[in-house]
Amino acid sequence: MKSIIVHGGAWDIPDDMLDEHRAGVSNALTTGWDILKNSGGALDAVEAAINIMEDDPTFDAGRGSFVNMAGQIELDASIMDGRTMRAGAVAAVRNILHPVTLARAVMDKSEHVLLVSDGAMRFAHEQNIPFCGADDLLVGREFERWKEIQTRPAYSGKEAFAGNTPARDTVGCVALDDNGNIASGTSTGGTPNKYPGRVGDSPIIGCGTYAVNSVGGVSTTGWGEAIIKVVLAKSIIDAIDMMKITPEDAAQHGISILHSRVEGYGGVIVLTKNGKFGTAFNTPRMARAYMSDEMSEPVVVV
Ligand code: GLY
Repeated sequence: MKSIIVHGGAWDIPDDMLDEHRAGVSNALTTGWDILKNSGGALDAVEAAINIMEDDPTFDAGRGSFVNMAGQIELDASIMDGRTMRAGAVAAVRNILHPVTLARAVMDKSEHVLLVSDGAMRFAHEQNIPFCGADDLLVGREFERWKEIQTRPAYSGKEAFAGNTPARDTVGCVALDDNGNIASGTSTGGTPNKYPGRVGDSPIIGCGTYAVNSVGGVSTTGWGEAIIKVVLAKSIIDAIDMMKITPEDAAQHGISILHSRVEGYGGVIVLTKNGKFGTAFNTPRMARAYMSDEMSEPVVVV
C-alpha cells in the first residue's frame, strides 16, 4: 500500500494566490508519488516532495521564505524515519535552499538529531550540501512585507496566523511506501519578522514532525510557539495509538487541543500505517494534496 500527503501551509491564503498554491502542492505530490510508484522509499518521497516546495517561491520554505527582524532568512526543517525512529533536524540555517536535505544528512550521517545555525552550516559544508546566496531565497513580495512590518511597533506571529495577514506558511509531507515504511518531514522559513535565532515547531521532533511505522506520521503547520507547547505531532500519533480513533478524528483532536489549551492556530496532515489520511486546520485555509493506490486520481485542495 502506497500513500502520500503534502501540505503547503495553513494560513489566510488570499484568493489571488489559490492557483499557485494548488499548483505547488500538486507538483510536490506528483514528485513524491512518482518515487513511491517506482518502488522508491518513503524517506526519498518525502525529501523530494519537500524540495519541490522549497524551490517554489509560493511557500514559506526555502525560496520565498519570510524575512526575520534582522533582515535575514533563517530556515528550519526536520525529517523522521518511522521504521527506525531516527530523525534529523536543522534550525536557523542561512543560505541553504533545501534545509530538509540537510536535516536528512544530520539523520543519516551524524549521531545527532538537531543542529542549529553555524554548527548546522558547518555540517552542511562537510557534507557538500549546496549553499546559495541570500538573493536566491529572498523574493520581492517578502522584502516588501518586511519593510511594511518595520513601520508597525507591535507585530506578532499570532496576529498573522489568526488570519489578519494574507501570507503563507510551512510545507510538509508524510509518505507510506510498499514496504510499510512511513516517513514525515517539514520545512519552513518560520514567522514574519521573527527574532533572529527564533526556532519554531518545524524542526522539533514531536511538534512539527513525527513518524512511527506502527501508527503513522504527522506534519504540522501554523503558529510554532503554540504548536511546541502542545507537542502537536506526537499528540496526534498518541491519540491514534491509544484512543483507536480515525486519522481524521485525530487531526481534529490535535487542532482542538491546540486552540483550547494555548489559543493556537494551524493545521495538520496525518497518514496512518494503513494508508488513511486525516487533515484539520483552524486557519481560513490550508493547501494540501494526497494520493494513494486506492485512489484513481489525486485530491488537491486549498
Ligand atoms: N510553523 C512554522 C513556525 O512557526 O516556525
